[in-house]
Parts: sequence; C-alpha cells; structure tokens
Amino acid sequence: MSFPRVAVIGLGFMGRTHIQALRRLGVDVHGVAGIDEDESRKVAGELGINNWYKDFADALADAEVEVVHLCTPNNLHFEQARQALLSGKHVLCEKPLAMTTAQSAELVALAQEKGLMTAVNYNLRFYPICQEARARVQAGDLGNPYLITGGYLQDWLFLKSDWNWRLEPEQGGDMRVVADIGTHWMDLVTYITGLKITAVMADFLIAHPTRLRPRGEVETFAGKLEKNLSTNEVSIKTEDAAVILFRFENGALGSVSLSQVSAGRKNFLWFEICGSKTAYHWEQESPNEIWIGYREQPNQVLVKDPSLFHDSSRALTGFPGGHAEGYPDTFLQVFRQFYAAIASRKMPQNGEFATFTDGHHEMVLCEAIKRSAAEKRWVSLDE
Ligand SMILES: NC(=O)c1ccc[n+]([C@@H]2O[C@H](COP(=O)([O-])OP(=O)(O)OC[C@H]3O[C@@H](n4cnc5c(N)ncnc54)[C@H](O)[C@@H]3O)[C@@H](O)[C@H]2O)c1
Repeated sequence: MSFPRVAVIGLGFMGRTHIQALRRLGVDVHGVAGIDEDESRKVAGELGINNWYKDFADALADAEVEVVHLCTPNNLHFEQARQALLSGKHVLCEKPLAMTTAQSAELVALAQEKGLMTAVNYNLRFYPICQEARARVQAGDLGNPYLITGGYLQDWLFLKSDWNWRLEPEQGGDMRVVADIGTHWMDLVTYITGLKITAVMADFLIAHPTRLRPRGEVETFAGKLEKNLSTNEVSIKTEDAAVILFRFENGALGSVSLSQVSAGRKNFLWFEICGSKTAYHWEQESPNEIWIGYREQPNQVLVKDPSLFHDSSRALTGFPGGHAEGYPDTFLQVFRQFYAAIASRKMPQNGEFATFTDGHHEMVLCEAIKRSAAEKRWVSLDE
C-alpha cells in the first residue's frame, strides 16, 4: 500500500508516540509543527524529519500533506480539526475530540460533508487481548453482561507541586480525569461489550484545592522529574478523582473509579465484565493476559497467542504468542486501520477504530457526567 503524506501537530508525549508508530507502519512523516518554530525545528532535527512548519497554518498550507495527526492540548483540537477538514485533509485527532458537544457535533457534520476520513485515538481498544475479549462477547461466550466494573488510577498528579496544562480548564477543559482517562475506560468497555451507556451518576473529588504552578511549561509525565521549580499557588477547579455509576442499555450496572492522585498507581486501567456465562478481568499494566472466571469449572488465564484467538482479533495481533505487545503497539493497529480506510475511502462499518462520531459520543457522556456531579442525581443520556 502506498501511504499519503502526513504532518504531525504537537510534539510532546503523543506527537512523538504517533511518529514512532507511523514510521513502523511505513508512513512518510512529511513534516511536524510544535508550539513554535523552535520546537518544530528541534524535533524535526532530532527525529530526522525533512520538513518543519513554523505553525499549524503553515502545515495546512503544505499541499503535499494529505493527513494531519493532532497531538496538541485539548483546547486546540476543535479549531485545528475544523481547519484541517476545511483544507481537505483527513484527520486523526487525539482524545478528547473537543471541549463541548456543540463543537464535536460540528466536526462530525463537517467530516461527513467533506467525505474525509476521521479518527479519534481511543487506542486502548487495540490491545490484542481486548480485541479477543470483544470477539468472545460477540460469539456469545460471556452471555448477557450483568456487571461492568473497573478503574483507571494514576499518580502523576499526586503531589500539590505536580503540574501539567491539563490542570488549566482553558487548555484541558472543565473536566479532567473524566475527559482525560475516563473516556478511555468508557470507550473500551462499551466497545468490548457492544453496550451503550444509558444513564450515569457521578461524584468528584478535588484532592488539592490549590496547586503550585511552575513558571514555564511541563511536558506530560516529565513533571515527576522536575525539582525546585519557581512556582505560583493557583486554585484548582477540575476533579483529581471521580466515581461514576452506570446503567447500560441491557439493564447491566457498572461503576468506575478514576484518579490522578492514587499513590503507586502508574497507569492502572482495569475492567471486570461479569456475564451470565462467565467473567473477564483485564489490567492494562499486564496487557498480555486476561482472567476468565467460571462458576462450574476452574478459572482460566488466557495469555495472548494469536493461534488461540478468533480470526478478527488474530488479524489485529502483531506478534506470535509469548512476544509481549503493549501500549505503543496499539497506536500501530489504530493507524493501520485508519490508513486502510483512507486507501479505500470507506469509514469502518464494524466499529474498528473510533471515529469522530465515537469521539462526539464520549463528549455527550462527559457532559452527562458533569451534570450528574453538579446536580447530585442520576442523569439519563436522553434527557
Ligand atoms: N491516546 C492516549 O493514550 C493519550 C495519551 C496521552 C495524551 N493524549 C492526548 O494527546 C494530546 C496531547 O497530550 P500530550 O500528553 O502529548 O501533551 P504534551 O504536553 O506532552 O504535548 C503537547 C504538545 O503540543 C504542543 N503545542 C501546544 N500548542 C500548540 C500549537 N498551537 N500548535 C502546535 N503544537 C502545540 C506543545 O508544545 C507540545 O509539544 C491531549 O489531547 C491528550 O489528551 C492521548
């Protein structure tokens, strides 16, 4: 397959991760744009990329670029995606898709009108074991899901002195853990079970009502290594932790705990999906195995091995059994599917990668969760 030329916008944690995966796939990263000329030039030089742009507009003006990957802070996604679509470029956007549902709905409509391919990077769908869990649910192995529980706990904003742009609502949005990591969990469990969430009940915690903001920027996760920065004390308006109850369309009940202030938890996403025949338990930090629970026979641990998988999940597994696959591999699988969609000019029919419509749906969930926490009541998605 010959790939279109790509520009990557935003060159921090995600920008560099996208570039690595694009290169593994064989895509030409034609150019990059960071926050200013210095960042663009520096990263292009470090990674051996031929072109760098002085800003986003400069990247869009490059007629050779057919696809843009948006890896910028959340507040920029809407306007950058809108401009890119208006310029006729396909867009792969980091999550969350926008800051409001009005914005995300506008992007869905614009992408349809332009006939361009769009994706939101809910990459966790593409752990091979998660694909296999989905295939087993579809084959009827789980039975009817009753209870869907889990968590996503991190500690990178544990200290009052930890800082990142996500703490500023103008850049991160007016929800933090829910939009940043909660949407990954919701996307993953609804993708695996095929069930829609119909109602939510949420409450939030701000562990640090004030934090120490460094003078200058801190790249994501790099804050843990910074010492003795000069700071200002600023008040915090977004949640450090959240607990959410869910009702699903088949009547199943669910819950998730989300936190960026849980000491010792690095990137601890887990789910347990209990059905009428069996139950699945999976943890992102041990991504190559899934626990399968039974009442009437011994429990099992399925270790990732494409020879034991359904055809659909085998096709999305990169290495043989015993060869661990992890977080960076999920990007490769998202991009493989996205570039296949561009080549065929057909958006996926079976919900393989998350589209702008899926990204918009996560925004709808976020707004319902925000309303529930503010009004201290269950909120139905069709209110
Ligand atoms: N899918 C995932 O697993 C995952 C993981 C982490 C972050 N993300 C998402 O990726 C996005 C970026 O997060 P990050 O952790 O990489 O942040 P980061 O702070 O590490 O990087 C952000 C980058 O954007 C650049 N930037 C800022 N303003 C810009 C502008 N106007 N034009 C071009 N570049 C600009 C910054 O200089 C920096 O290089 C966020 O939306 C976040 O939610 C997704």
